[in-house]
Amino acid sequence: MQNNRGNFSKIGFIMAAAGSAVGLGNLWRFPYAVGENGGGVFVLIYLISVVVIALPVLMAEVTLGRFTGKNPVGAFNAIKPGSPWKFVGYLGVASGLMILSFYAVIAGGAVGYFFKALTGQFKGMASESAIASNAATEAYQSFAGNGVLQIFLLAIFIILTVYVVSKGVSGGIEKYSKILMPALIGILFLLLFRSLTLEGASKGVAFYIKPDWSALKPSVIINAMGQAFFSLSLGMGTMITYGSYVSKKENIPSATKWIAVFDTGIAIMAGFIIFPAIFSLGMQDVSGPGTMFNVLPVLFDKMPGGMVFGPLFFLLLSIAALTSTISILEVPVAFCIDEKKWDRKKASIIVGAIALAIGVPCALSESFLGVWSTIWGGLSLSIGALFVAIFIGFSWKTPNALKEMYQGADNFKGAKVWSFAIKYIAPVFILAILLSSFLL
Ligand code: PFF
Repeated sequence: MQNNRGNFSKIGFIMAAAGSAVGLGNLWRFPYAVGENGGGVFVLIYLISVVVIALPVLMAEVTLGRFTGKNPVGAFNAIKPGSPWKFVGYLGVASGLMILSFYAVIAGGAVGYFFKALTGQFKGMASESAIASNAATEAYQSFAGNGVLQIFLLAIFIILTVYVVSKGVSGGIEKYSKILMPALIGILFLLLFRSLTLEGASKGVAFYIKPDWSALKPSVIINAMGQAFFSLSLGMGTMITYGSYVSKKENIPSATKWIAVFDTGIAIMAGFIIFPAIFSLGMQDVSGPGTMFNVLPVLFDKMPGGMVFGPLFFLLLSIAALTSTISILEVPVAFCIDEKKWDRKKASIIVGAIALAIGVPCALSESFLGVWSTIWGGLSLSIGALFVAIFIGFSWKTPNALKEMYQGADNFKGAKVWSFAIKYIAPVFILAILLSSFLL
């Protein structure tokens, strides 16, 4: 099959895919998921899931996308025309809408916190009395509880996303990512240093890296695996869609490996920032979706130059979120363009408007948002990834996928390992984990 869409430049694909992968999933969702799922044991299972399940699925999705040159529905249809496989694509399109709806609420929160930081509202958050009275947490609760403001910020973020996506897969994302990503990482290192040098930081580090096996439950495993998919933008066809814009010269195994290393590294770093701070400062009530917003203002207030780094961090976080929402919206939009023959602008606006409407309940209730994030951000992605693995392994078949993968990667050494992982390890594990969480 010939795919002439190749719209990404060589570095462009890595940038765009890393931009999709790195976002709120790393800095907002990962730390709170660790907190809710028993600490180190979750981290360990997450890491194993990335290596043995998510990375093979990432390679599979990009390869499927590049081979077919299509959105997820079109991609399954191109290989098995008229078969029910296309429903996996539909599930992806639906997940995209649902994920965008809650993701953009948190992204709106990052924008809101950028303005809070800019106007000096983190000042005093690290004073003893402020910590004792949970001032940062209370400030976040009143921020998150302001429904009108939340909906306003959600709308702003959706409009921004629609604007970029309506312009197409352009050089814009690539150009900015090259400067913004390193800047974000720079600030993360500063935060890391601040957090790890706090007195008593080691208690947080221990919670984070020492697996407490008594915390192990099927729900911990399923959440860790779901987080691996979420963080790498898998299971809903984002990487199939982005793969459709990749040129035949791109080395898929090597590019995807770097994306996984980069993405996972940033998530792990986020944990080393958040947990030492929580434990060492003795913060209370910092769990759930608000975790990041409760902890970072205190840390910025405790840090030299926090007045500058605080706003800069939330600005960069907003942009990292934007490169992710762009990739999420791109899935339903590419579907409407390819399959429904809508033009890009119309598709972006209509899909964006639907996501905005679905996002309103998430903007109004944090607990609803948490549930939405678990169902659509975890469960549905695991189901999607399961079907991708079965499809590639047994329907399209690995030798065909490998033929595509070898283009641009004729020195790829991991063909056997990848085939085994996608045919057996990924489906068996995902299925077992899904079933155990329903049955146990
Ligand atoms: N990977 C993104 C993050 O970690 O923030 C979120 C995401 C993007 C999830 C694209 C799913 C997706 F298809």
